[in-house]
Amino acid sequence: MPLDLAGKVILLTGAASGIGRGTAIKLHELGAILTITDVNEVGIAETLSLCGGDASRHTTLVLDVSQAAQVEQRVAEVVSKHGRIDHVFNCAGVNPTSMPLTETTEAYFDKLVAVNLKGMYNVTKATIPHMTAPGGSYVNVSSISGLHPTRGTAIYCATKYGVIGFSKCMALELGPKGIRVNIVAPGYIDTPSNAGIVKGTAEARASMEQGNALGRMGMPDDIAGVVAFLMSDEARYMNGSVVEVDGMLKT
Ligand code: NAI
Repeated sequence: MPLDLAGKVILLTGAASGIGRGTAIKLHELGAILTITDVNEVGIAETLSLCGGDASRHTTLVLDVSQAAQVEQRVAEVVSKHGRIDHVFNCAGVNPTSMPLTETTEAYFDKLVAVNLKGMYNVTKATIPHMTAPGGSYVNVSSISGLHPTRGTAIYCATKYGVIGFSKCMALELGPKGIRVNIVAPGYIDTPSNAGIVKGTAEARASMEQGNALGRMGMPDDIAGVVAFLMSDEARYMNGSVVEVDGMLKT
């Protein structure tokens, strides 16, 4: 039986590209009503068009998740239009550039923390009062780098480990209201911003594929189905779960 998300009001962040866009398309196919947000205005228009282009069903909003006041304002717009939010996909994030810590800057640290961690806090805080309860849920994007250290990515790892700690605490806090909070931890997914990690030489890509039990990198759609499942009633007893979606990296 296909997952049933028909009529569900879902807010997505970071939905102009990659995993956020792929998930928007999947949720559209499952009948949800989407608010597609991102800092990239052109990108969210493209995502809308890939989701059928029906602006009377789906909404696009420019949203920088690191800006608390803007997040509050955008969430108020969603609530004024739909009266509620059923699910949130906290996907906006900055992928790492692999480098030793001594080569990083304070600005780089601040950027990753502001988007990957504070952005999730801003969106969660602003949406909680409007979530369907019981029955609502959050799906937050961590990474395999939120579970295992990866060389040259200490700051990114810190944010993605932080996402898991934050999300598990929210699962405890919101569970009694009937709102679930789960986490997806993707492996290496072929997305535009993953340049530092996956867009290297052909040899680098081949070695990444050989290092994966399934022999390939992931695609955004590989994550999207898992997100849809976690939002659906089929996952009704999953709360605070971290779901690794990485094809099994060989160690
Ligand atoms: P992507 O670059 O394709 O998508 C990220 C989106 O976030 C972009 O559209 C970007 O404009 C948006 N964004 C950046 N800063 C923002 C801000 N301040 N406010 C709102 N939107 C903002 O990258 P991808 O790979 O799809 O990444 C999505 C999420 O998945 C990120 O949280 C990333 O860390 C995570 N992830 C990605 C993996 C991969 O291999 N691609 C692996 C594990 C986790």
